[in-house]
Amino acid sequence: MENKNRGSFSGSLGFILTAVGSAVGLGNLWGFPYKMGANGGFPFLIIYLVFVIFCGVVVMGLEMAIGRKTGKSPVLAMGELGKQYKFVGWLSVLCPIIISGFYSVLIGYSVRYAWGFLMEIFGSDSFGGMSGGDFFGAYTAEPMQVMLFTIITLAACGLIVAGGIAGGIEKFNKVGIPGLFVLLIVIIVYNFTLPGASQGLTYMFTSKGMEMAGTEFDFFNACRVAAGQMLFSCSLGMGIMITYGSYMKPEESISRNAWIIPAADTLAAIMAGLAIFPAVFAQGGTPNGGVGLLFITMHDTFTSMGNIGNVIGFLFYVLVIFAGVSSLISLMEVASAHFIDSNEAKGKPVSRKNAVLVMTVIIFVLSIPVCLDMLGGSAITTQIPLVSKIGCLVDTYDFFTEGIMMPLAAILMCLIVGWKKGHSWYEEEMEKCGNKIIGKSFFRVSIKYITPAMMTFVLISLALSYLGI
Ligand code: PHE
Repeated sequence: MENKNRGSFSGSLGFILTAVGSAVGLGNLWGFPYKMGANGGFPFLIIYLVFVIFCGVVVMGLEMAIGRKTGKSPVLAMGELGKQYKFVGWLSVLCPIIISGFYSVLIGYSVRYAWGFLMEIFGSDSFGGMSGGDFFGAYTAEPMQVMLFTIITLAACGLIVAGGIAGGIEKFNKVGIPGLFVLLIVIIVYNFTLPGASQGLTYMFTSKGMEMAGTEFDFFNACRVAAGQMLFSCSLGMGIMITYGSYMKPEESISRNAWIIPAADTLAAIMAGLAIFPAVFAQGGTPNGGVGLLFITMHDTFTSMGNIGNVIGFLFYVLVIFAGVSSLISLMEVASAHFIDSNEAKGKPVSRKNAVLVMTVIIFVLSIPVCLDMLGGSAITTQIPLVSKIGCLVDTYDFFTEGIMMPLAAILMCLIVGWKKGHSWYEEEMEKCGNKIIGKSFFRVSIKYITPAMMTFVLISLALSYLGI
């Protein structure tokens, strides 16, 4: 029976932009460019592309096929493959909820910074004349303020998700994703007018980047960094593509989308590097990654540009918000879709609005400790042995999701479909309405052997690296 609370995409463009929106996020901005430079430059890009092709494309196609074939969100979808596989669906539903717990806080930071640069354009001293590091330290040390911006973020995203697939999520992405690419281009073009900008290219694309970042090339480390980044960046192993697949029309080509979306995500990651590092080097900054790059180095970079820096800084943080929101609404959608579907299955239908409200509150509750943790600066959360070993709560949430749950879910999906269900199970879905599978033998060999083997490597090495082994 059709569940009226589910909804569907209005067409191919809406689907692609939404899937690209979920993939292009903070990970592309703070993760990829720095990691590429610090891990070998061009050779790292090649390693990354190998993971994108043999794991990203394959798992993306598989998730979409599982979603569309079952027409359900992850737990019920995996349950259709076999009752004993429901736990894989659970892994994929819990993951987005946990990630949202820190992702929403970080988008909240970006809202504060965009607002700050906007105020500076109009002459108000929104950053108190502080350096990037001082302001960030002072801001994160005020959990109430951080929480306020997190609430604003969650409320806005909740409203978008409550609007439904075509009426909310797709609408946002149809404006947000082209907007994001336009902003990237504007900032990149501006960056190349800055003297010294070419050092940013040297950092990202040549082996000199390692000297600049103070690192050395280590093939295995480069592989595990590339693999973890790819999983997070393509939003895989967490039911997003199963959920979106369930809203997909039968005439859409799954395999074509499975190639396009990771390609667009990689393009956005490279463009993000061009929007960041030329400016950092032109303004005399040093390369780093993560939260420090987005909120300290970039703040200092824009401040040192003078008045125009306020405008570029504002545009940059709007870009971060677009990238973040398009990902966060996908994360919230997975959780909400699960709630809608599981209640429907129990014969107690719940409206989309109520489902989104419940999920938003749960995510907010999970974000409270992250706000209080002050990125590891608080004495309370660091009392927890695992958190203090890993560093801070954001990294701890990330450890459980990117380090364990996502690779595990991806491996299990490949093994269950590849070995238990057989190729015809997903091929039938991919070939619906006369669609051809682009790379049929490639999918066959990868799903059964290559992807699970590579992912097992990722799972073991990521888990060890998070624990500092
Ligand atoms: N892919 C997003 C990024 O690169 C993050 C994300 C992860 C979004 C998981 C949705 C799900 O930042």
